[in-house]
Amino acid sequence: MNITVQEMLERRERLLGPGNPLFYDDPVHLVRGEGVWLHDADGNRYLDCYNNVPCVGHCHPRVVEALCAQAGTLNTHTRYLHENILDYAENLLAKFDVSLDRLALACTGSEANDLALRIARVNTGGEGFICTNATYHGNTTAVAQLSSIFEPVGGYGEHIRRVPWPDSYRAPNGLTGNALADAYADEVRAAIASFAESGIPFAGMIACPIFANEGLPDIPHGYMDKAIGYVREAGGLYIADEVQAGFGRSGRWWGYERSGVVPDIVTLGKPMGGGHPISGVVARGELLDNYRRHEMYFNTFGGNPVSCAVAMAVLDVIDDEGLVGNAAEVGGFVMEGFRELESRHEMIGDVRGSGLFFGIELVHDRETKAPAADKARAIVNRMRHKGVLMSKIGEHDNVLKLRPPLCFSRENAALLIDTLDEVMGAV
Ligand SMILES: Cc1ncc(COP(=O)(O)O)c(C=O)c1O
Repeated sequence: MNITVQEMLERRERLLGPGNPLFYDDPVHLVRGEGVWLHDADGNRYLDCYNNVPCVGHCHPRVVEALCAQAGTLNTHTRYLHENILDYAENLLAKFDVSLDRLALACTGSEANDLALRIARVNTGGEGFICTNATYHGNTTAVAQLSSIFEPVGGYGEHIRRVPWPDSYRAPNGLTGNALADAYADEVRAAIASFAESGIPFAGMIACPIFANEGLPDIPHGYMDKAIGYVREAGGLYIADEVQAGFGRSGRWWGYERSGVVPDIVTLGKPMGGGHPISGVVARGELLDNYRRHEMYFNTFGGNPVSCAVAMAVLDVIDDEGLVGNAAEVGGFVMEGFRELESRHEMIGDVRGSGLFFGIELVHDRETKAPAADKARAIVNRMRHKGVLMSKIGEHDNVLKLRPPLCFSRENAALLIDTLDEVMGAV
């Protein structure tokens, strides 16, 4: 580790205190980004296979230009009239199912989810929410209750039920197909019943439609249909957290399109501003309108002219550069490469993907499926030293997690696959 990095770590500890998470055993000090490439302070270049926030590529010139132009003209809080928020709302809503026709803007995914919970509570009169048992939805007090990756201080309240995420790799009792979808959906039904038994009125279920934080499972066909069917039968709402899945990541505009189950409320964040903090809630009009009749929601920064100019540029670049199609096409190519690695590296138990989002599950033994978190950690750190940035996730922390900017090319993919092949051979 060079002295500069050491000094920075000491300053962080002194100024920010302990517990501020950093990636890699040997943390990276980045100074510049461009497209799919990141550069550190020592002049090393990294292929970015991790960052979904700069979804159109790091420092995309059109996004930078939109930001600078609007910042040099006007930026205000959100209680004045401005066209940017209207133009953006029009263009963004046009990407959704027609039933999802209202937008509220905020700054982070956590805020968007917090607002979505409030909208669901006001509209259903309920308090009880279902989430999965290996997820993360953000860091406000209310949203942290839904996050099982980091347990909230004081534990979970009675109004939260955590159901098993739909894992088809470690399926219970070896179930497959419809039986597996039924088994996981029955868990949702049981959670709803347990709210009723406890006298807690039910508000709904929040889930990432591709279960990204859970480890990107191959969702058993029909699961979402059945699970959300039970939620709606009980008067609850389905909140799709698209903070990770949205904006073309899965090879479709929205993750919910994969199951075909249209949510009542959608939350957006991370890639929305390509690195600029903007997030949103898209909902059926009557839900948001009814909520606003009960509570005045105001967000100082959410939807300001600069944020909207940036978000509009991101949307335009995704369209003009055909990045949703690119995610599907290059994503398929990457999956072929990973499957080929799976045929040669015993440590790979399962390979899963959706557009340009991949999970590679590492195991010590393909029969027992014993999770190999140690190998995942070693690979992520070695890849960093080979100039490829990625991470790991999942209930057992053994799933390699890759989600490069959407402008990732076949050439980038080939470099990723070759480097991973070499590193897996060495671990
Ligand atoms: C699925 C999901 N929802 C919400 C959030 C919270 O977003 P933010 O960090 O912008 O508050 C995250 C963050 O990782 C996330 O993965």
